[in-house]
Amino acid sequence: MTPFRISFCCTNTAPAPWLAGLHTALPQADIAVWQPGALPADYAVVWAPPQQFFDEQTQLKGIFNIGAGVDALLKLKLPPSAAVVRLDDAGMAVQMAEYVCQAVIRHLRELDRYADDIRAGRWTFRKPRQRTDFPVGVMGLGVLGSRVAQALASFEFPVLGWSRTAKALPGVASFFGPAQLPDFLRQSRILVNLLPLTPHTANILNHQNMSQLQPGGYVINVARGAHLVDVDLLALLDSGHLSGATLDVFRTEPLPADHPFWQHPKITITPHTSARTLRDDSIAQIAQKMAALQRGETVAGVVDVARGY
Ligand code: NAP
Ligand code: GLV
Repeated sequence: MTPFRISFCCTNTAPAPWLAGLHTALPQADIAVWQPGALPADYAVVWAPPQQFFDEQTQLKGIFNIGAGVDALLKLKLPPSAAVVRLDDAGMAVQMAEYVCQAVIRHLRELDRYADDIRAGRWTFRKPRQRTDFPVGVMGLGVLGSRVAQALASFEFPVLGWSRTAKALPGVASFFGPAQLPDFLRQSRILVNLLPLTPHTANILNHQNMSQLQPGGYVINVARGAHLVDVDLLALLDSGHLSGATLDVFRTEPLPADHPFWQHPKITITPHTSARTLRDDSIAQIAQKMAALQRGETVAGVVDVARGY
C-alpha cells in the first residue's frame, strides 16, 4: 500500500497510546500529533479539533471522528472532499444497552426507593410492578438505538422505536417520521433518546412532546444535552406528569455547579459516560477503514453531512 500521512488532533485525549496503536495497525503510515503549520495529511483522527486544523489541512481524504456523534464536528467548515467517518459501534452499543437497561430496570423495580429504605434501616417490600405497564419508546434506531431496543425487548418490556425511516426489528414496534411521533409518544411510558443532534432533533425533548407520554412517564437522555429543554423537564417533574429522569448528557458539560439537575430528587445524572470510546476497538475500526479508503474501497459509517448524521 502507498505510504500515507495521518494527523491526530483530539482534545482531552492522551495521544501516545493512540499513536502507538495506530502505528502498529498501520505501519506504512506516518502518524503525528497535529501542530499549526504541520505538513498536509491524507487522513485525520479527531475529537473536538479547532477550526484552524481544517483551515490548514485542506487536502484530507478522510476525517475519522473518535466518537459516534458528529454534531460538534459538523459545526466546523470541513474540506468538502473529505469523507467524515464516525465510530460505528466499536464497543459502544453494548455499553449503551447496559446503561439504558439498568436505568429502565432501576425505575421499574424502584431500586432507588429500596436503596433509601435500606439506608434508613427499613426492611420493606413494595408491590411488584408489571413491565407491561412500562412500554419503552426508543427515539433513534441506529447503531446504538437498535441494540438498546433489542436488549429491552429481551427483558420482555413492550418496546416501540421511532426513526426517520421505517424499521423491522424483532420485538420492536416501528414508528417513523414526524406524523407518527404523537402515536409513538402516547404509547410510551419510558422514553429513551438516542437520536443524533441535528436541526430536526434539537429540543425534541420539549414540553409538548414529553407531556404526551403516559402519566408517570420517565425520560432517559443519553444522546445530547441540546435535545432536552431543561426547564420543560423540571416543569413536568414538578407537575407530576413525569416521575423521573436519568440524564447522561447536558447542554453544558461539565454540568454547571448551580444547575438544578444536580440536587433534584427525581433526577439521576452521570457525567457523559453511558457509552465510552474504547481505544483499542476504535483504533482497530479506524485502521481497517483507513486502509480500505486508501485502497479505493467504500466503508460503513460515512456521515451524510447534509443530513447531519
Ligand atoms: P445512528 O446510527 O446515526 O442512528 C441515528 C438514528 O436516529 C437513526 O435510526 C435515524 O433514523 C434516527 N434519526 C435521525 N434523525 C431523525 C429524525 N429527524 N427523526 C427521526 N429519527 C431520526 O447514530 P448512533 O450511532 O446510534 O448514535 C446516536 C447518538 O448517540 C449519537 O449521535 C450521539 O449523539 C449519541 N451518543 C452518546 C453517547 C454517550 O456516551 N452519551 C455515546 C455515543 C453516542 P434512520 O435510521 O431512519 O435514518
Ligand atoms: C459520545 O457522546 C459520542 O458521540 O461518541
